[in-house]
Amino acid sequence: MPPTMIRPQNDVSLRRLIDERKPGHSLPASFYTSDEVFNLDLDAIFGKHWIFVASVAEIREPGDYVTIEFGKTSVIVIRDDDEQVQVLHNVCRHRGARILLPGAGSVGNLVCGYHQWTYSPDGELIYASAAEEGFDKSCYSLRKVAFRVISGLIFINMSDEPNTDIDPVAEIVEPYFDAHQLGRAKVAKQIDLIEEGNWKLTLENNRECYHCDLHPELGCTYFITWGYPEDQIPPHLQDVHQRYLAAEAELEEKCIERGIHYKGNEQLDTRTFGFRVQREALDGEGESYSLTGAKLVNKLLGDFDDAKLGRLSMHTQPNFWCHFMADHAITFAVLPIAPGRTLVRTTWLVHEDAVEGVDYNVDDLTHVWRETNNQDAHFVELAQKGVTDPAYVPGPYMPSEYQVNAFCNWYLDRLNDYIEEDPS
Ligand code: FES
Ligand SMILES: [Fe+2]
Repeated sequence: MPPTMIRPQNDVSLRRLIDERKPGHSLPASFYTSDEVFNLDLDAIFGKHWIFVASVAEIREPGDYVTIEFGKTSVIVIRDDDEQVQVLHNVCRHRGARILLPGAGSVGNLVCGYHQWTYSPDGELIYASAAEEGFDKSCYSLRKVAFRVISGLIFINMSDEPNTDIDPVAEIVEPYFDAHQLGRAKVAKQIDLIEEGNWKLTLENNRECYHCDLHPELGCTYFITWGYPEDQIPPHLQDVHQRYLAAEAELEEKCIERGIHYKGNEQLDTRTFGFRVQREALDGEGESYSLTGAKLVNKLLGDFDDAKLGRLSMHTQPNFWCHFMADHAITFAVLPIAPGRTLVRTTWLVHEDAVEGVDYNVDDLTHVWRETNNQDAHFVELAQKGVTDPAYVPGPYMPSEYQVNAFCNWYLDRLNDYIEEDPS
């Protein structure tokens, strides 16, 4: 059992806390505010389930790396000399020092800054000075972390025995994503945003568009009726809904004609690796997240010859969403820092041959989601302040927030699994 757990003496209180949650309602305050639940989340959720960390476009060349931090953990996602992805614990096998500081870059080898033990990018110890005779370097490779690449998206699992539900999900979603060819993409921009709220509030906020009236830039192209049951679309969004229906019909026809996967598949709280995938239309020109809907990158991803393919979007529990357009892709990783602090890492990816300043402009490319992320960070901060107030009582999710409810269901089911797995 991991040492940070609040078990065994607190299992009863954990069970009580889980049971306290009223179905269809936001979570009791401690889930968002307490150190104990935060540590539990790191163990039971981020320590056991498939976490999105980066895409292959972030580590294109041998030696390219990015470090990923959450809770007390740091891992190195690196391309080795055989061009394979490796995910390694960022903990030296000598006396445990951090090897790489947080960030991204490129290295020949991984050299610990303390006594210079040196590892190849696949984690093998290749040099330890002044070792005694017979010292077996092969016993001191960096510890590996399980990972799985889905259409260029890298997911890791910190468990020694990772659940295998990612395999059937990969089979389902890869046909949607493969044509975007992330292996031939590069990073145009990456922005780390700290949200002053619990990671679950970040996720909850992402899983509904009930608040989307307050995203003016996003609303230029994203149909903000998303999530509403057809018969509950508010009167002021009826015209948006009509445009959505027309755009969806056009997109569907094109997808059928071209054999492009588009139909929604939603299994957010019915399996261990909860996910949702769908290609959906965009408003306006229908091509990209600009203010008019027109494409933002001249060179399209993969071998696309048509910019008007809407957005291919996926959610996975517990920390990921993305939007893939024909001209660029955006990935979002949510990484918990503290009970009331969360990192949201947004990465804009374009075709490797797209030239900045010629084929795209970074400010324009990132404008809509920079603004949207900042607006969302504000909402998350407001929510964190409110749930920390002693006056907070959980409130009901509206029908259009059913995916928030699905996220909470998934989360609580995983906590239950965790307790049942090892009831000691
Ligand atoms: S702790 Fe890394 S070389 Fe000593
Ligand atoms: Fe939002």
